[in-house]
Amino acid sequence: MLGSGVYCGPSSSAPKAFARRLPTRVPTLEERRQLHPTLTFNPTSALIESVQGRPTDDPIFSLNAEAKARAAAGESILNATLGALTDDEGKLLVLPSVSEAISRIPAGRAAAYAPILGPQAFLEAVINDALGETSLVPSATAAATAGGTGAILHSITTFLDIGDALLTTDYYWAPYRIIAKHTRRSVETFPMFDGAGRLNLRGFEEVIVSQIKRQGRVMAILNVPCHNPTGYTLDEAEWRGLGEIFERHGHSAPITVLFDIAYAKFGAPGADTWIGHLEGFSKCVQVLIAWSASKSFAQYGARIGALIAVAHDDEERACIQNALSYACRGTWSNCNHLGMLAISELLTNPISREAADRERAALIDLLGQRVEAFNTEAAKYDLDYPRYEGGFFVAVFSPDAEKTAAHMRDAGVFVVPLGGALRIALCATPTRDIPRLVKALAAGIAAAGDPS
Ligand SMILES: Cc1ncc(COP(=O)(O)O)c(C=O)c1O
Repeated sequence: MLGSGVYCGPSSSAPKAFARRLPTRVPTLEERRQLHPTLTFNPTSALIESVQGRPTDDPIFSLNAEAKARAAAGESILNATLGALTDDEGKLLVLPSVSEAISRIPAGRAAAYAPILGPQAFLEAVINDALGETSLVPSATAAATAGGTGAILHSITTFLDIGDALLTTDYYWAPYRIIAKHTRRSVETFPMFDGAGRLNLRGFEEVIVSQIKRQGRVMAILNVPCHNPTGYTLDEAEWRGLGEIFERHGHSAPITVLFDIAYAKFGAPGADTWIGHLEGFSKCVQVLIAWSASKSFAQYGARIGALIAVAHDDEERACIQNALSYACRGTWSNCNHLGMLAISELLTNPISREAADRERAALIDLLGQRVEAFNTEAAKYDLDYPRYEGGFFVAVFSPDAEKTAAHMRDAGVFVVPLGGALRIALCATPTRDIPRLVKALAAGIAAAGDPS
């Protein structure tokens, strides 16, 4: 490296070439301002140029803040913006078995550092939770991450080069873009639905082909089942269609497919059949799973998650594990030990596990009632939205989502506008408020007007 200008260590023998390139004097702030009079960024700021002008807050949190402020001022507000499951009185729903498991962990164990990759028992438990019904367990490795978000981050930085674009549906969870941008990647999308309102397999395949040509690899993120923001869950034919695409292209370039299963446990009965397709997929593409305890154990704040990778070749699996361990060390060192110990116990102790499953079933039931009420009300107004059978959210199409959302806000109903649709968090909407919500939606869509 000597002479290349790259100098990382505290050695006294810094290369001369490097030393020669150093400016004799750093310009003063005033000189920098004069040097860059037409620039849009502030040359006197200590912030580097690329991070100046970042938005102040996540738009969903801003909407939530406005809804709360108006409710505090005495207005009747229906706030369907936030992605956490609350009861009909607006209280966050938790699983008592999780709180009990947390309280049983000895303080001395919780306070100690966790292993960098995560405690072995936690990793095995998570792999079994995700893949236990398949033959893939011996081929899987995993790393603990800060929630599903951390798993997405590691997938992007480990399986996609700087400058390349990940591939996902055109409706997607906005942090995919933030993580990609923050790590100097980008996002490319395909139109999620075809003319029949089904997963647009052809559109997906077209971008795979063009990305293979352009960047020599593909890293796709599919948030399934119970997609955020649309609520969509693939059916058997769509899963088979994905498998055929992976078979056609998986051998011409490295293709990584990250299944973001943040909401998987909240699917309608039958939504978990997708897991049976993973064995076939894993023969053609690099299968990754972003596992999260945030929704499945109602522990949003505990930041417990894992990235699971399937590799049939022992050497490749070891390389992936090393790369993930390095990524953990270089990002957060290690994750929340208390949370991982508690979740290991919940996943491996049959009594605790049964209690958590039973408590979760009650939450799924509550959500199911809201889904049913929504579908009934939406049919009355002939709302246009994708097949919706379960999950935290549904998205309703509108010719002008911003206008629709503004109209709804005037009526005290808060939803999240997306390009071409409104995201409704039924997870946070009491069943009794669903008629009001749907009526406001229908009025907002009518007010937005249909240009066609
Ligand atoms: C689609 C999707 N993926 C992943 C996550 C990650 O959640 P967490 O980092 O809390 O596990 C979320 C959270 O809202 C999400 O909506």
